[in-house]
Amino acid sequence: MAKELSTKHVLGIKYLNESDINLIFQTAEQFKEVINRPIKKVPSLRDVTVANLFFENSTRTRISFELAEKRLSADTVNFSAASSSVKKGETLLDTVNNILSMKVDMVVMRHPAPGAHHFLAQHIEANIVNAGDGTHEHPTQALLDAFSMREKIGDLRGKNIAIFGDIVHSRVALSNIFCLQKLGANVKVCGPPTLIPQHIEKLGVGVSHNVRDTLEWCDVANVLRIQLERQDIKFIPSLREYSRYYGINKKLLDSLDSEVLVMHPGPINRGVEITSDVADSDQSIILEQVENGVAVRMAVLYLLAAKRK
Ligand code: CP
Repeated sequence: MAKELSTKHVLGIKYLNESDINLIFQTAEQFKEVINRPIKKVPSLRDVTVANLFFENSTRTRISFELAEKRLSADTVNFSAASSSVKKGETLLDTVNNILSMKVDMVVMRHPAPGAHHFLAQHIEANIVNAGDGTHEHPTQALLDAFSMREKIGDLRGKNIAIFGDIVHSRVALSNIFCLQKLGANVKVCGPPTLIPQHIEKLGVGVSHNVRDTLEWCDVANVLRIQLERQDIKFIPSLREYSRYYGINKKLLDSLDSEVLVMHPGPINRGVEITSDVADSDQSIILEQVENGVAVRMAVLYLLAAKRK
């Protein structure tokens, strides 16, 4: 196993190799042990300053990164576009360079523009972690998803993982596909034809529009929400209809031949893509995903900081 990451940034799972992913998992296992101790803190990033730049809304990812940084003893600054000079017309590069001139070492950024992180990586020295770029990638979500799956079902090689819902607008879907394939899993996407990107099968994933058949096939169901905020035209007739034909409910799960592990990256639209009796059931590991997110992000930050030395 490699001892350091092959990359200076985590811009997307596309740019990590299997060794990188396994190194992140091995490191995250150690940090998971740390955050379950009475004293949940280590001094690993004591001399590192991290800027969390959120140009788009977030609950889980932002809090998870902030906690990961605090658990590693990093100094942190938090930036939210809504209350910043971006509103006065400042460019992304000017904003970031102003923050970096205050001696910031790492940037964790969420931005609505796909590729915003790649643009920054060409212009700044700090390590960059992509916390979600538009509909493109959300690498740490995919890492925490795969880490959580591995904890429950072991090695993912040869396992069948299905991603349900709004694939076309989802950065989580693309990052999950890259990550799971690099770990040797078989991946299928399932949803209405309008929410599945054209030619996605060229990535080597199966495509289905039949929820029951896909649930019968898979070991894990990773369920995504309908991203209404990214739909300027209607991709589905109504949420009610979506829920009826593509929603995952307990009755459906109970009628399957074998038990499926249910995941969701959040935020959940209860009663749309997933019912409460599934989200809150023993089959669901939604909150365990969130818990693992802190350990996985600690691992990513720690390994990137190690490359600075
Ligand atoms: N899963 C996820 O990215 O959630 P947030 O948008 O709340 O960060």
